[in-house]
Amino acid sequence: MNENLEVIILAAGLGTRMKSSTIKILHRAAGRPIVDYVIDLASDLSAKPPVMVIGYQRDAVQKAVGNRARFAVQDQQLGTGHAVLQAAPIIENEGSVRGRRVLILSGDVPLTRPETLRSLLDEHERSGNALTLLTMLPADPATYGRIVRDETGAVVRIVEVKDATEEQKKIGEVNAGIYVFDGEHLFDNLRNLSPENAQKEYYLTDLLEVVRRAGHRVGAVVAGDPAEALGVNSRSELAQVEYEIQRRVVEKLMRDGVTFRNPATVVIDSSVTIGADTVVYPFVTLEGNTRIGEGCVVDPGVHLVDVTVGDDVHLKTGTVAEDCVIEAEATVGPYAHLRAGTHLGRHVKVGNFVETKKAVFGANAKASHLSYIGDAEIGADVNIGAGTITCNYDGVNKHKTVLEDGVFIGSDSQLVAPIRVGRGAYVGAGSTITKDVPPDALALSRTPQKIVEGWAAKKRESRKK
Ligand code: UD1
Ligand code: CA
Repeated sequence: MNENLEVIILAAGLGTRMKSSTIKILHRAAGRPIVDYVIDLASDLSAKPPVMVIGYQRDAVQKAVGNRARFAVQDQQLGTGHAVLQAAPIIENEGSVRGRRVLILSGDVPLTRPETLRSLLDEHERSGNALTLLTMLPADPATYGRIVRDETGAVVRIVEVKDATEEQKKIGEVNAGIYVFDGEHLFDNLRNLSPENAQKEYYLTDLLEVVRRAGHRVGAVVAGDPAEALGVNSRSELAQVEYEIQRRVVEKLMRDGVTFRNPATVVIDSSVTIGADTVVYPFVTLEGNTRIGEGCVVDPGVHLVDVTVGDDVHLKTGTVAEDCVIEAEATVGPYAHLRAGTHLGRHVKVGNFVETKKAVFGANAKASHLSYIGDAEIGADVNIGAGTITCNYDGVNKHKTVLEDGVFIGSDSQLVAPIRVGRGAYVGAGSTITKDVPPDALALSRTPQKIVEGWAAKKRESRKK
């Protein structure tokens, strides 16, 4: 943590190339707005919250970021140089900038590693530079600013593509948009910038030449991995960023002992945790505050949002669950839908085509096939037969079904709530249960079976005539 370091995050631009009604820094990658990753970086390096320069959709940005940043407003987007200047009042208000360092990050460049920024800051101190910037050599230099070096290799200028000559466009080294300044060389120089360029903007990048001309040292650190400086300016770049974050998330999980049968096909938010010896099959999506225990098997096509899963659970193909708890040794699916408020106790089995909602299952309870269990309290060791339905809704209100420990519900039964079936009681198959069942009783509501001897044979005979 550097007490002497201020971090500025540029985040006022809309990002027109995204073709979106949402500001680009609030687009999500691996479940978080991309600006979140930049704030994480800043918080890693400086004790003080970063100063974020906002403009477009400032209310939405402020709401998303909360108190993790201080905010400076840029009313008109007149360029990156103009944007940094809007942070000056907040930073100068804390005393002279002389002797302080200012790190400038872009809200749309989320993949930089803290180690890389630390080496940028170290290089700045070691070399006595007034300005040190991060550069990179991407496969495609695209629309990044080109780094112009002189015959001695010294960085002399950054040229934006729109202002570049054909010769300059061929330069492979580009500006990552990340800079460390000595405070005294930043704001005063910005106040003297002029927008004489193709975009009529105040370019922060012009300061390089200004600082150098004034006789101060300027240096650059080349990022080893160009992905670290990937900026999100288009949907294509957003996809690349998401892909890279996914790759890092999965690499980390594999280091922690998780097996992925085909890591390239899974989508896992950076907030998700998975225990060792869990096996994840292809095309699994795990989102939000999802925590999976050790030794689980997560079959293809499982989709979990905010789900807590204990150890040794088997989630079979096509299971969809949100806002649920699944305790150890449970088996779910294939094709089960666990909706919000479902809690499966230890060793519970919920089988194919079962839907649950606000349903708490005690240990070893089973609903193996084709059921709807909503607003229910299911005791331990309860067996719910195929096709059982809790009729929880009377058109106006929701009512509760309680099945006490050890209850057996025969197949194709309807439990019309509010209803309670007492401990150890049986409900015969095909029953519609509307009244509470006492413990250890049998409840049956079938119409008695009728036999008409020879009926079918007679029908066949009559058809022949
Ligand atoms: C900028 C650099 C370019 C570099 C690239 C790296 C300049 C002039 N160019 O180009 O050399 O290769 O970043 O990603 O700096 N912003 C504001 N207010 C403004 C303008 C921009 O806050 O008036 C913010 C944007 O919201 C964005 C960041 O500054 O977060 C960068 O702006 P952007 O328009 O994306 O610049 P690039 O064209 O990518
Ligand atoms: Ca950019």
